[in-house]
Amino acid sequence: MEPQAPAVAVRGLEGVIAAETRIGYVDGANGKLYYAGYDINDLAKNASYEECVFLLWNDRLPTKRELDEFRAELIPEMSLPRPLVQWFKRVPRGVHPMVMLRSAVSDLALYDKETEDNSVEANRRKAARLVAKVPSIIAGFYRIYNGQELVPPDPKKSIAVNFLRMFTGEEPDKKSREAIELMFVLHADHGFNASTFAARVTASTLADIYAAITAAIGALKGPLHGGANQRVMEMLEGIGTPDDVEDYINGLLVRRERIMGFGHRVYKTEDPRARHLRKYSEDVCGGDVACSRYYAISRQIEKQVKKTKGIYPNVDFYSATVQHALGIPVDYYTTVFAASRTAGWTAHVMEQHADNRLMRPRSQFIGKIPRRYVPMEKRKK
Ligand code: CMC
Repeated sequence: MEPQAPAVAVRGLEGVIAAETRIGYVDGANGKLYYAGYDINDLAKNASYEECVFLLWNDRLPTKRELDEFRAELIPEMSLPRPLVQWFKRVPRGVHPMVMLRSAVSDLALYDKETEDNSVEANRRKAARLVAKVPSIIAGFYRIYNGQELVPPDPKKSIAVNFLRMFTGEEPDKKSREAIELMFVLHADHGFNASTFAARVTASTLADIYAAITAAIGALKGPLHGGANQRVMEMLEGIGTPDDVEDYINGLLVRRERIMGFGHRVYKTEDPRARHLRKYSEDVCGGDVACSRYYAISRQIEKQVKKTKGIYPNVDFYSATVQHALGIPVDYYTTVFAASRTAGWTAHVMEQHADNRLMRPRSQFIGKIPRRYVPMEKRKK
């Protein structure tokens, strides 16, 4: 006989511990985030994205030699299968870049001879391909879709910096290089968020890593998760000046609408990533009139929302202004989040496969039971 399901369903799985992990920890009460035990504030100040990827995959920081070897492995993997690049030209106009990315990552499985091999070694190689190719897909698609040439990766530059130069076609200055590296470091992992959970559920069926990352991208797209950064910029564009903020926010609250980029399921205080992005948003916007106005409006929104709702900005709030300053178009914002989070997703898939048990929860049935089958001719609405 099946065991009884718990009497009450946990809505949104709030507070449920779904698995053990060594990869990341979100201390919501104290506003702290750790990658494999290392404080995100230390990593944001000192580490490159590649160091963080190595850390998330290996549970330790790399030596200089290991990091050099890791970079030398990753950058050549930024190349894309030719049929995928051809496919970019056939994507219908107006498709959201996250829909493209979801399809493209699923497509990568077609061209990888190791797709069906779930061994530790093959998964590690596929994880490297994914971490390198996801940024390339975003940059490559953007350029082809807009009738421009692909920009090849520069082996001397990091994944994050290569992403930016391959996207914009320009060599980024020091400020922009630091900002994109920081964006990649800060978004690399975040505990059992919805997209990571989606990846782990998919991996727990022993499906391939491409299936898991495709599922994760699908989950990240939603506005309650990674899609929020795009909505933040749309909100900033909809507010004329800092003086308009109070009425705008009050209007949202009266209509019981969500203020994008605010609130969090786990953090009950400030999201530590928001602090870093706030500072960078101020730095990278300096000198640009429109960008500085977005920054000033953002500060005013933060003040107003804290006062009226008592909630804090999350990672998506200031990432919008940083991405604007870096020249990323609004509908691509969530793809940049996905590019970085591929590090965490792949780490979680490998951890799940290393000690797998099928994730298969129960639901509380609240319909009528049993019901008698009624023949078609006797049915009433
Ligand atoms: N604006 C207005 N009200 C909010 C917000 C918000 N951003 N966030 C929470 N609340 C209110 C909500 O209305 C509810 O109030 P009431 O009980 O009066 O109905 C209460 O807080 C609890 O809301 P909930 O949806 O049950 O809480 P949650 O833990 O599920 O919310 C959240 C987490 C992220 C879905 C929510 O804060 C939200 O919708 N934020 C806006 C979207 C956003 O910024 N998402 C990014 C999340 S963090 C990074 C990432 O994953 O990308």
